[in-house]
Amino acid sequence: MHSFEELSKQFAGRFESRHFPADPESLYEPAGYFLSIGGKRIRPILCLMGNELFGEIGSDAWQVASAIELFHNFTLIHDDIMDKAPLRRGVPTVHEKYGSATALLSGDVMLVVAYEYLNKIEEGPIHEILQLFNRTARQVCEGQQLDMDFEKKQQVDLSEYLHMIELKTSVLLAASLQMGALLGGAGKGNQEHIFEFGKHLGLAFQIQDDYLDAFGDPAKFGKQLGGDIVADKKTFLLIKAMETATPAQLDEIQALLGSRFPGKVPQMLNLFRQCGVDEWAKELKEEYIGTAFRHLEEIAVLSARKEPLKQLAGFLVQREY
Ligand code: IPE
Ligand code: IPE
Ligand code: MG
Ligand code: MG
Ligand code: MG
Repeated sequence: MHSFEELSKQFAGRFESRHFPADPESLYEPAGYFLSIGGKRIRPILCLMGNELFGEIGSDAWQVASAIELFHNFTLIHDDIMDKAPLRRGVPTVHEKYGSATALLSGDVMLVVAYEYLNKIEEGPIHEILQLFNRTARQVCEGQQLDMDFEKKQQVDLSEYLHMIELKTSVLLAASLQMGALLGGAGKGNQEHIFEFGKHLGLAFQIQDDYLDAFGDPAKFGKQLGGDIVADKKTFLLIKAMETATPAQLDEIQALLGSRFPGKVPQMLNLFRQCGVDEWAKELKEEYIGTAFRHLEEIAVLSARKEPLKQLAGFLVQREY
């Protein structure tokens, strides 16, 4: 069994090689730039861990892991355009550096290259993998559209939010694990449990992402702090604040939503603090991690094989970047 650190190193060694031709440089250089600035590489590692749960990591799992990371990076480039985000991983976003048109295209070509990696599957059930990959990709689009639709809505309830983050974030973590398991020869029951493990882990992961967007340490976070507040995102923090605010606090929150008032971010952060949203976030993350671990327990392999996944799950919800 390999730890997150070991798999990260091995994956980096294979993944950092060239994915794109040289020409035209104006298309491929921005794509290469984005991949070179790093990222945690969580989803490919989940695929590899899902695979290793059932045996030795096979060559198909490495190809699918690369496809998944390319797909994820494609969604980030497009997400940063949609969210008007200036920074990611501590450096300027692709659209900020090269313009939106090039950012769109370099994201598109990354998606195509992701499918080229899927097409390298030699032994595994390629049709099943494609079906799962495609369903997931479609769901990410659905979640991303809901995320934007919610910017314009005055109020979004917790269940709508949870549905949205399941689509935009959770299903990709869940499917990464399931694809690894599927390639490792896991049966239906085990696949379902590993998917549910990833889904609940993904919900906790996005709640942590929302938390960091507001309260992260600027030296570690790598993205623009308060970007969600500026964009009127209906994050867990905002929803919970609106749910628990006094009438006076609620008036203040509503006055800030949709406004371009320069003090919007610090004022909203104050309201979040007054409403104790960090405690709510902690509580809900713990609930989801608990559910995730119960599904992990149900997977019919020796419990020692599950250790790397447990460690990774712990890291993901405590992470600072
Ligand atoms: C960011 O994902 C997008 C979300 C779904 C929250 P990551 O936090 O995994 O981003 P990188 O790849 O490590 O930069
Ligand atoms: C992004 O959610 C989810 C996808 C990219 C599909 P966010 O918009 O919260 O992700 P960050 O915070 O920009 O990484
Ligand atoms: Mg974003
Ligand atoms: Mg977004
Ligand atoms: Mg975010």
